[in-house]
Amino acid sequence: MRLHELIDTALQYRSRARAPYSQFPVGAALETRKGKAFGGCNVENSSFGLTMCAERVAIWKALSEGETEFRRLVVVTDTASLTPPCGACRQIIWENCGDIQIILCNLRGARTKHRMSELLPLPFDGSFLVGA
Ligand code: THU
Repeated sequence: MRLHELIDTALQYRSRARAPYSQFPVGAALETRKGKAFGGCNVENSSFGLTMCAERVAIWKALSEGETEFRRLVVVTDTASLTPPCGACRQIIWENCGDIQIILCNLRGARTKHRMSELLPLPFDGSFLVGA
């Protein structure tokens, strides 16, 4: 899959965001190693803590379809300074996708690429549980 197609997917999902409280729509698209894309948007709740981020929606969708190997994740918002995944999402991306590439975009054509190991240095993961 071409990167622009993955970005288009994230953009399309962003338009489905349910963000009445923050007015901050986010779109995400997770690509498997075989080139299949799973999109997600943020889904807010009036009990704010129950809100789910776009990245996690995309990950839950892919995992629940049996996908386990991932290549890259696009996150689209429309902030001048590109929006990185929140701390909770970084932990969940690391756990389920490993050191994938993260591409941040806005609607104004800005784009940056990162590795998860750069966004989550010194991560906690399951290796510590078996090594305890
Ligand atoms: N949000 C995401 O969906 N992903 C992020 O990486 C940052 C935050 C959502 C959660 C909430 O619906 C809104 O953005 C404001 O925090």
